[in-house]
Amino acid sequence: MISRFVAGLSLLVAATPALAQDTRPLGERLYDVVVSGLPHTYPGYRANHAKGGVFEGSFTASPEAASLSVSEHFQGKAVPMVIRYSNAGGIPDAADNAPSAAIRAMAFTFNLPDGASTDLMCINMPVFVVRTPEEFITFNKAAQASGPGVAQPTPVAQYIASHPETKAFITTPKPMPVSYGTQDYYAIHAYRLVNAAGEGHFVRFHVVPEAGRAFVSPEQAAAAAPNVLLDEMRGRVAKGPVAYHLMAQIAEPGDVTNDSTVSWPESRKVVDLGTITVTKAVADSATVEKKLGFLPNKVVAGLEMSDDPFLQARAEAYGVAYPKRQ
Ligand code: HEM
Repeated sequence: MISRFVAGLSLLVAATPALAQDTRPLGERLYDVVVSGLPHTYPGYRANHAKGGVFEGSFTASPEAASLSVSEHFQGKAVPMVIRYSNAGGIPDAADNAPSAAIRAMAFTFNLPDGASTDLMCINMPVFVVRTPEEFITFNKAAQASGPGVAQPTPVAQYIASHPETKAFITTPKPMPVSYGTQDYYAIHAYRLVNAAGEGHFVRFHVVPEAGRAFVSPEQAAAAAPNVLLDEMRGRVAKGPVAYHLMAQIAEPGDVTNDSTVSWPESRKVVDLGTITVTKAVADSATVEKKLGFLPNKVVAGLEMSDDPFLQARAEAYGVAYPKRQ
């Protein structure tokens, strides 16, 4: 299992020339370590999550949401949303059952009445693979230095052996869902909600499918058509709305907010912030997705970033990535 997943990873992160001291901005270095893992470049496509499709929908907050946040989308009036489902990996035509595609994503924008917007970028794992952006680079360089013929234990095997949080991420089963509509998604990093009384709560967002969780067997996954997930989702939405609940797990004092490899205790209170309803597949998705660029630091009044260093570092990497794929 580890070797299959790492084989997928090393496809994503092939050799970068070793630089003694790379002093370029972190966002550039993060972007480069992703791109250098690609077997080819695919002009016009995202360097990661290259394969995806765009949908439209709306979000309607629950009555509880306004007690936690003054953000416009948490006040109860439906706001329009743009949603992009994707698989991880930089190969736009990678099959849905490829090991490198096992990370599924749902990124979305809430378009607010005042013209502002805010994004959440979620994947099908509740925690991340490494503790810091710098470790993301070290880990990916280890993966790319661990190709065929490299002496055992390879650099990536050594990295994994000395980083239990990385091993936990890699070994967690990531079964193929029946649908993008039968899968959980997590924004992973902590954010902070602020209410009208000025009270702040650190939260972690979790998107729960109303249809319930459903996955295919390994045999069904092996036999799956290469584009089954987007095809299925387009068909599903054509038959009727696909709903999810946006849940917020509320931290208690002392819970870690700057390490996205650490879960908060399951006993923490969880609040249903409202319903995401996906209503329509965008017809010209390939054109529309090119202009879309989601950002984990695009917050609005009532929604703040935590001190998790990934929020800012990822935003910088995405800022480098976006113009290169236009
Ligand atoms: C330092 C760590 C990371 C790096 C370097 C990285 C890199 C990238 C890059 C280069 C893209 C393409 C962006 C574009 O062209 O617009 C991307 C897309 C994406 N990333 Fe990350 N990523 C990281 C961590 C994460 C984490 C932790 C999550 C989830 C919480 C995540 C979720 C996504 C999603 C959902 C997309 C696709 C967005 C879309 O549909 O447009 N990434 N990532």
